[in-house]
Amino acid sequence: MTSVNDLRSSFVDYFARNGHEAVASSPLVPRNDPTLMFVNSGMVQFKNVFTGVEKRDYSRATTAQKSVRAGGKHNDLDNVGFTARHHTFFEMLGNFSFGDYFKDQAIEYAWNLLTKEWGLPKEKLSATVYQDDDEAFELWKKIAGLPEDKIVRLGAKSNFWQMGDTGPCGPCSEIFYDHGDKYWGGPPGSPEEDGDRFVEIWNLVFMQFEQAPDGSRTKLPRPSVDTGMGLERVAAVMQGTNNNYEIDLFKTLIDSVAHQTGTSLKGIEEGPLASLRIIADHLRSMSFLIAEGVLPSNEGRGYVLRRIMRRAMRHATLLGAQEPMIHRIVPTLVREMGQAYPELVRGETMVEETIHLEERRFLKTLSRGLQLLDDATVDLKQGDMLEGVTAFKLYDTYGFPLDLTQDALRNRGINVDLSGFQDAMARQKAEARKSWAGSGEAGEDKVWFAVADQVGPTEFLGYETEVAEGVVTALVRGGQMVETLAVGEEGFIILNQTPFYGESGGQVGDTGVVKGEGVAADVTETQKHHGVFAHKVRVTQGAIKLALPLTLTVDHGRRSSIRANHSATHLLHEALRIVLGDHVAQKGSMVSADRLRFDFVHTKPVTDQELAEVEDIANTIILQNTPVETRLMGVEEAKESGARALFGEKYGDEVRVVAMGEPTGNGLGWSVELCGGTHVRRTGDIGLVSVVAESAVAAGVRRIEALTGKAARHRGNSNVQIVESAAGLLRSGSHEVLDRIAALQDNVKKIERELSDARKKLALGGGAGSGATAAADETVNGVTYVGRAVEGIAAKDVKGLVDAEKKRIGSGVVTVVLKGDDGKGTVAIGVTDDLTAKYAAGTLIKLATAALGGQGGGGRPDMAQGGGPDGSRGAEAIAAVRGAL
Ligand code: ALA
Repeated sequence: MTSVNDLRSSFVDYFARNGHEAVASSPLVPRNDPTLMFVNSGMVQFKNVFTGVEKRDYSRATTAQKSVRAGGKHNDLDNVGFTARHHTFFEMLGNFSFGDYFKDQAIEYAWNLLTKEWGLPKEKLSATVYQDDDEAFELWKKIAGLPEDKIVRLGAKSNFWQMGDTGPCGPCSEIFYDHGDKYWGGPPGSPEEDGDRFVEIWNLVFMQFEQAPDGSRTKLPRPSVDTGMGLERVAAVMQGTNNNYEIDLFKTLIDSVAHQTGTSLKGIEEGPLASLRIIADHLRSMSFLIAEGVLPSNEGRGYVLRRIMRRAMRHATLLGAQEPMIHRIVPTLVREMGQAYPELVRGETMVEETIHLEERRFLKTLSRGLQLLDDATVDLKQGDMLEGVTAFKLYDTYGFPLDLTQDALRNRGINVDLSGFQDAMARQKAEARKSWAGSGEAGEDKVWFAVADQVGPTEFLGYETEVAEGVVTALVRGGQMVETLAVGEEGFIILNQTPFYGESGGQVGDTGVVKGEGVAADVTETQKHHGVFAHKVRVTQGAIKLALPLTLTVDHGRRSSIRANHSATHLLHEALRIVLGDHVAQKGSMVSADRLRFDFVHTKPVTDQELAEVEDIANTIILQNTPVETRLMGVEEAKESGARALFGEKYGDEVRVVAMGEPTGNGLGWSVELCGGTHVRRTGDIGLVSVVAESAVAAGVRRIEALTGKAARHRGNSNVQIVESAAGLLRSGSHEVLDRIAALQDNVKKIERELSDARKKLALGGGAGSGATAAADETVNGVTYVGRAVEGIAAKDVKGLVDAEKKRIGSGVVTVVLKGDDGKGTVAIGVTDDLTAKYAAGTLIKLATAALGGQGGGGRPDMAQGGGPDGSRGAEAIAAVRGAL
């Protein structure tokens, strides 16, 4: 038997041998097409190569491409489980020619692989061609030798292939396999074509056109080839079965589901069998999507994922499962497909945990919802309708996606009143809008409510990619929604999806560029308002209009620094707790590209030694270089697991939990925090963290600031340079710098002391260079009076000078005025004890300070001091005192 894994590699090897580049599958979330929900075929990743926009260094390629058809143009969700060949997730094998070979060679390669390499009997094969494609008709005759009755001409419905509403397209030719007359069915084009006997296994598309949004088609630069073969279908053919769910891979998965639900496969009835198949199929799509970072949510892709997950869960319940069990099948899937898709191996834990969480959440309401559904439909019979309001209540209160309700009623032939459902939904939205209007949101914010209401939340792709396409859904300028942003204008662009992080949770928004055909703009800032990501831009080329597809590219260097700073913030947080104690709770943070800031509860300054310890611990975790893991968890469960949360912050029911560092004990990691930010892949990517400042921000709240990576290294280097230059100036070795500076400081102090003493002496002596005006002792009114104006001494020494003069004259009045280095005056007046009854120093001083342009001054009767702004008026001050004697 040829296994699925063998077939996959056999196909790729065959085309690689024939000059095709073997290219890896692209992610399921398309990076290069904003109109597609999920990659639905092999050609999507080459879309721009077909149209000539993108060049590659090969003109032939081959892939095994992961595909999901569960939303958008190609949606198979409703059929899965009830037919032999529908899947939500499948693998498409393909070969591609970008203007290299065309129809003849495409047909030849296909024919040879099927009949020569894989040995399928010719008589079992037939082909279809587009109705007027005579060339393909003739080629099938010539190359394959097919008789004319086995080449069927069909119309555009089945033989013209388009990727979506826009993009490359062309007529196609399909190859069918005849499973034999034990199955009912007729050849393509016949009334019985929907039977299971004749099965399409390979579609060869002759890509010739590109379809524009208005439906018009232009020719591709060169005719090309895109083919797609469902791996599961061809495996069925090669394994001698008509049903995809009977191939080796699905057998293993279904066995595992049966085992986990305690279902016996022997004599199993159609209903339970369909449930097994649905779970096996849905397990693949949910696991691959989650491994790529898509998480269940209530919007966009996350909602399609949630629908798939909940549909599988209902079928598990139908099989009797009372407990979460789908997550337990993940290891089987990883064993089967992990070798071809290593992302499954890498993401295994995350996939398991995410499924488990969703199972626990949904199982809480599932049985009550089913009860409600039973009660509401008990009197309904085949052909009746379930009321829209009930379906809405199931959706809104019990988490039943609409298609789950439809699925549940399907085998009873009951439909859901869709317009009633939509009405109920619209009524609820209107209520919500009313409460916004009433909440008094003013000015600026109003427009964001309007945008959120009109276009819904933006899907954020930036955890996984920094480049992606998006379609413009709204434009805002000057607080108003507008139709166009012209060149030179500033405003906001809103798209259906974006890789740009919108400022939130302390992390700044991304910057970068957006480009489209003939248009470009610089993104200077990204904000987040009510789930809408608003890219603040300045248009540099063309005019940006609604519905335009744009490629968004995040400034990678800046984002990398932000990632490093954000992850380092988590490490410092944990390290602070270890060093300072458990009271360290986060009060705020700011993560930008240049630096990080972290505010926390702590009542005293953090000492240098504590800071050094914190830094050391954080750097130890960086050196562990362990992967940074992100999970989705229930908020209560996350908190129970010890994840750090910001006190007072409002979190949704589900939260992202970021864990890094080797766990101590059985935790999720060394540091575990609730966080929606973007982080490094491994702690080693931070490089280095260096704390550069510690300060107080409020009572009981401290702040540390730190640098990481290059910035931390540069700062370290520049510090070393400073020390080395200092050592050079001091003519010492670097290690002696501190001792030398201490010695110099002692020396300076000593010299200052000596200098001050010398100045005092000089001032007293009145010698040259003292700056003092020499003054003779005078006799005024029979009293000895000494008045001196001095410079160059310290203000505190003025009094000492007065005392010395008092001693010298024995009896009299002394005035000393200092003109300080700053130009201000300081004055002291002394009166010897025998004269204090006659003259009070405290009174005289007022005259002196007034002369210096000041007022007041005071002291005892024998000694008073004061000052004034104008120290140059020393002589006037001396004279004023003289006049009072
Ligand atoms: N793109 C083509 C398909 O999906 C081959 O059928």
